Amino acid sequence: MRMTQNRPAVGLLYNPATPDLVTHAPELVEYIAVMPDRLWFDFGARAVGRRFHRTLGAMEEIRHYAKGRMLAGHGLGMSLPSAIPLDEVFVEAVAAMSADLGGFLWYSEHLSVFLAPRGSVPNAQAGLGLPVVYDEETFEIIRGKLQRLKVALGCPLLLENGSFFTPVPDMDMTEPAFLNRLYAEGLCGTLLDLHNLYVGWRNGGPPPSNYIEELDPDAVVEIHLGGGDDFAGFYMDSHSSLTPPEVWSYAFDYAPRFKRLRAITFEFQETYYERIGVDALVGELNRMHELAACCNTESSAIHAR
Ligand SMILES: [Fe+2]
Repeated sequence: MRMTQNRPAVGLLYNPATPDLVTHAPELVEYIAVMPDRLWFDFGARAVGRRFHRTLGAMEEIRHYAKGRMLAGHGLGMSLPSAIPLDEVFVEAVAAMSADLGGFLWYSEHLSVFLAPRGSVPNAQAGLGLPVVYDEETFEIIRGKLQRLKVALGCPLLLENGSFFTPVPDMDMTEPAFLNRLYAEGLCGTLLDLHNLYVGWRNGGPPPSNYIEELDPDAVVEIHLGGGDDFAGFYMDSHSSLTPPEVWSYAFDYAPRFKRLRAITFEFQETYYERIGVDALVGELNRMHELAACCNTESSAIHAR
């Protein structure tokens, strides 16, 4: 379903526990974001035979749960800021999956480094996104890849702010300035993960309000909510809990300013599904609807620019 609306849709990042949650509250879930990287096994560029093997039954399950809902793609694997060429075979596989699912409304990737040049394992995505150097060289690397990706996928693109565990000083540009420029040059919009900003702040980074004030509000097309926990002296982006109160407060303060906002998405890791509890997750979805009701967006706000 392609919804025309003047408020953002409420949704979930798809994982193996999502069907159970959607079954409990079908009317509360209007949008699903799927991660192609989690729907196949990637045997790498040197694979003997077929490189990508889709997980059994996953596509049928997603088709079923995406019916009547907005659908977008959310990827980890491209590591766009890395100083390595775009993985064209990977891009083709994402494009094929999008086509098989009727076309992603938009496709997002992370503004983090997941792949390092000369890594020893093919397409090994680090569990942790590494910070990006915000300078002209990185901007040019990302510009070329986004231009190619937009043609290949045929849909608007978003980049998501990462979660970082130590401040990185002396960049040429701040992260919001970098995202603003990507938007101003028509390359992509912003997926603003409010919990990732909280993670950065808990680990010594800038206050989230400073970051959001610097960001162009028109660039923001999607918001991520989620929760984490403490580990070894750090606050982790583990998607193990409900959205913390501070993050809700940024959401209610700022989301109504994002006139192009299309989706508010909650991320949880399926291994924590039982621990968080389905009732608490339904409560989270209800609160997300309260947030969406505070937003009055432009109905044609889907395009990144
Ligand atoms: Fe996120």
